[in-house]
Amino acid sequence: MVQIELRPMRVSDAERFYEILSNPNFTYFEVNIESLEDEREWLREEAKRREENKEHNYAIVFDDKVVGGCGIAIDQRRKHIAEIGYFVDEQYWGKGIATEAVRRLEKIAFDDLDIVRLEIRMEPENTASERIAQKLGYHKEGMVRKAYRRDGEYRDCLLYSKVR
Ligand SMILES: CC(C)(COP(=O)(O)OP(=O)(O)OC[C@H]1O[C@@H](n2cnc3c(N)ncnc32)[C@H](O)[C@@H]1OP(=O)(O)O)[C@@H](O)C(=O)NCCC(=O)NCCS
Repeated sequence: MVQIELRPMRVSDAERFYEILSNPNFTYFEVNIESLEDEREWLREEAKRREENKEHNYAIVFDDKVVGGCGIAIDQRRKHIAEIGYFVDEQYWGKGIATEAVRRLEKIAFDDLDIVRLEIRMEPENTASERIAQKLGYHKEGMVRKAYRRDGEYRDCLLYSKVR
């Protein structure tokens, strides 16, 4: 199993995250950050999001370097439901890093955040992301139509879940 560490995101991670997320090969991923300053601005709000139990985000550290990010977003109306998200620097793809990060997030969500239903959503073409859900035993619930927006278009996505 690949050795990674998850630690809360910091404002000082901004440059590294911006570098990772600026990759044009992040085809099926919605990035709302348009500049390094946007990234910093977003990271400045991290503590608040965590305190308000809205999002619990983490930097993924591998080999003493930040290689990605991941997090748990809590449904604000039904707080027993949360969605997991993740991204990894392309240089580190295929090492099992995202799979291990999701395994850790799952434990945090179920053991510490009182989550009962955990969702993972991905575009149907995002086979790497779908493999992660499959490998970790998530249940495929189907296609959610026009569930999110990327590049100005509403898109369908696959919905996977795990419940406890
Ligand atoms: C999706 C992503 C996080 C996967 O990260 P990763 O660390 O490479 O994932 P893992 O190494 O844990 O591998 C996941 C599985 O997908 C497979 N995989 C990796 N790249 C693939 C590709 N391009 N096509 C098909 N399968 C692929 C791996 O082989 C592995 O399956 P296996 O164990 O059966 O071989 C990474 O590609 C990424 O950051 N993409 C851009 C952001 C994104 O799409 N995030 C998810 C949004 S839902």
